Order: sequence, then C-alpha cells, then structure tokens
Amino acid sequence: MAFTLPDLPYAKNALGFISENTLNFHHDKHFKAYVDTANKFAAGTEFEGKSLEEIIKKAKGPLFNNAAQAWNHGFYFDGISPKAVAVPAKLKAALEKAFGSVEKFTDEFAKSAAGNFGSGWTWLVEDKDGSLKIVNTSNAGNPLTDGLKPLLTVDVWEHAYYLDYQNRRPDYLKDFVAHINWDFVARNLG
Ligand SMILES: [Fe+2]
Repeated sequence: MAFTLPDLPYAKNALGFISENTLNFHHDKHFKAYVDTANKFAAGTEFEGKSLEEIIKKAKGPLFNNAAQAWNHGFYFDGISPKAVAVPAKLKAALEKAFGSVEKFTDEFAKSAAGNFGSGWTWLVEDKDGSLKIVNTSNAGNPLTDGLKPLLTVDVWEHAYYLDYQNRRPDYLKDFVAHINWDFVARNLG
C-alpha cells in the first residue's frame, strides 16, 4: 500500500499566522514530494508495504530522508490548531514537572527551535523513563531513531516560514507556540 498525502486538518486560510500561500507550497508541493519520493524509493525493496515508522527506524539514505520527511510533516501539521486549545490536565502536570510551567516549556521550545542551525525540526519527546525533553534534529532527522517518542514538532526549514516571516524565525516560533494543538500532544503522551 503506497503512502498517500493526508489532507490538512484545517482550512488553508484558517491559521492566521501561516498563510494559505505558504500552505499551498508546504503541504501541496513539499509534503507531497516527500510522500511521492518515499513511495518511489520504497518500491521493489524490502521496505515496500512497511509503515513510515518501520522505514524511519531501519532505512538509510534517500528512503530514510523522504519517509522521515513524510512522517514529520504529517505530525507537524496535526500539532497546529487554528483556535486556542486548553492544555489537558495530565499533560499540564507533565510539562510542569519537566519544565516548571507550560509557559517555560513554550519559551524553551521556541528558543531551542530558534537556535536549531540550518534546516531541521525541534521536538517535544517522551524518553524511555517517561520524562519529557526538547530535542533538535537536522534535515529529516526524527527522534524515533533514538528510541524517543515524539509528542510535538515544529518545522524550522525555511520553506515552513519564509514566505510569511522571511528571516524572522523567532517570530514564526512565537506564533507557533500560541497555536499548539495541545489535545494532539496529550493524545501522543497517552
Ligand atoms: Fe517542511
């Protein structure tokens, strides 16, 4: 079963801080190209029919890069909400334990993402011992390869924000953390 491009979980003009123009390129062109290219590189190999997660954990090179980018983009778009979402109690307690407060987490997350050099992703992850951490990855990197469970990610490739924010990555991140879909994060925490 080939991978397919998922629809965005909101209208392209619904977010406010990310424009329809950005989403036309980011979802319809970049994300689609990663999905299509992952299918191309998986076809006829031992990875054909495997899940993106299985490919991410085992593949290298162009198949890893495209499968990880396909997974990362779906996860990123699902983590954004057009409307403010309250932080569910269990997640709130976990963030307070790890970072002191929800606001301290969003500050630290945005700061880490602002300092993530070059193209990559910044993640909130759950470690094997249940603790929550912020990690940066470069290019297509995904924490699943390190045995970490992703809870949230932000795309800091320039294609994610350049049309709307140009070089002002910190401004994009300030707006991103105000639009986190905390219900999605809480579901991933389980
Ligand atoms: Fe992207």
